[in-house]
Amino acid sequence: MREFSNEDGQMMIGGARANELVERFGSPIYVTDERAVRENYRNIRDAFKPYMPARVHYACKANAALAILRILQQEGSYIDAVSIGEVDTCLRAGYSPDKILYTGVNVSTKELQQLVARKVMINVDSLSELERLASISTDVDISFRVNPQVGAGHHTHVVTGAKSTKFGVPKDLIVRAYDRALELGFMPFGLHAHIGAGVQDVAPFAEVTDVLVGIMNDVEQRLGLKLDVLDIGGGVGIPYRPEDKPMDVDAYAREVTSRIKGRCSAKTVAIEPGRYIIADTTVLLTSVVDVKDTGDKRFCGVDAGFNTLIRPAFYGSYHHVAVANKFHRPEEFTYDVVGPICESGDFIAKDRRLPKVEEGDVIAVYDAGAYGFAMSSQYNMRGKPREVLVKDGAASLIREAETTDDLLRLERIPSRLMI
Ligand code: LLP
Repeated sequence: MREFSNEDGQMMIGGARANELVERFGSPIYVTDERAVRENYRNIRDAFKPYMPARVHYACKANAALAILRILQQEGSYIDAVSIGEVDTCLRAGYSPDKILYTGVNVSTKELQQLVARKVMINVDSLSELERLASISTDVDISFRVNPQVGAGHHTHVVTGAKSTKFGVPKDLIVRAYDRALELGFMPFGLHAHIGAGVQDVAPFAEVTDVLVGIMNDVEQRLGLKLDVLDIGGGVGIPYRPEDKPMDVDAYAREVTSRIKGRCSAKTVAIEPGRYIIADTTVLLTSVVDVKDTGDKRFCGVDAGFNTLIRPAFYGSYHHVAVANKFHRPEEFTYDVVGPICESGDFIAKDRRLPKVEEGDVIAVYDAGAYGFAMSSQYNMRGKPREVLVKDGAASLIREAETTDDLLRLERIPSRLMI
């Protein structure tokens, strides 16, 4: 968890006062600290520097705000994209196609055609996808995603590497996939696996690396093909709770690279962090609109619900909360922090000790940068909130709030219903 400084009882984010940001931009808002984004990116990139060349593909599914993509483009990042929409967003942010690796699952032929036209790298997920791609073009840089039968993650929904999941070419078919790719006229450059998301220890990353090295050696021995890039996917977790320890990224880089170097043809390791780069750079600021004491429970009612941040409701995820305008004041009561959505599952945080909250206070929800705005919705016809970027106290609006007009823009009422 990132530490935020305190000025006269006010929480500071990137040099700006949280309560002033809410006064200026309204509520709720997502606020991202630009320096933190750059720092996280450099941390994980630099962890590999002593060991071997590494490519960092930012997993933009975590947060695809153009301004954030642009910051990482300036840093030299590569991209992990999962849809044509993400690819086009990254191109718009200034990435060149050769920096974008598309890793889809159940990819339609139409999407393959669009990807070929954009000239991005494609990480092929199945033999069906390979054949359909070949019928469009073989002049494409491809790698394969294998199902490594190594899975991990903070919730069963996000474990992707286990055998039972829909992802990747099954392990026992992977050599055949490379064989077929060569036969079709492709020259694959790499091998990829992604075990899952929110992984807090190094062991499963080491385990999947061994699996990938083994496959690379099989491919080399049986087909004479030397693959260049070994991609271990994303999934590095972050400490969401105050008592959690951050993952040791140096140990992660050391363990993974020591299993690759000199043991297979790969000259470059690739990683695809989303959460590690963006989660702790962003807080969701949400105003207290209603306070309710039922005798059993105290509810702190805020203007952000699971439409704004779904992770607590969807995965039972913990996000730390603080009262931004009573920062570091002693805790007094236990609250559930709940939103305006008409479902009892609509909560941001449960059973949290906070200073006494009142209407007009500002709650800061920590670590909201990854899969926060990205998974927000317009449920209950509430538009998505503003996004703000701060750097050294200066704040810029990077996404306007959606109005009801925005939500209705694409709808039509058939004329026969208007009579
Ligand atoms: N690479 C691939 C192929 C992926 O599928 C993912 C995430 C990543 C990289 C990045 O994973 P990260 O480093 O961010 O953990 N909505 C969930 C997380 C879903 C992740 C899906 N794939 C959440 O809010 O926790």
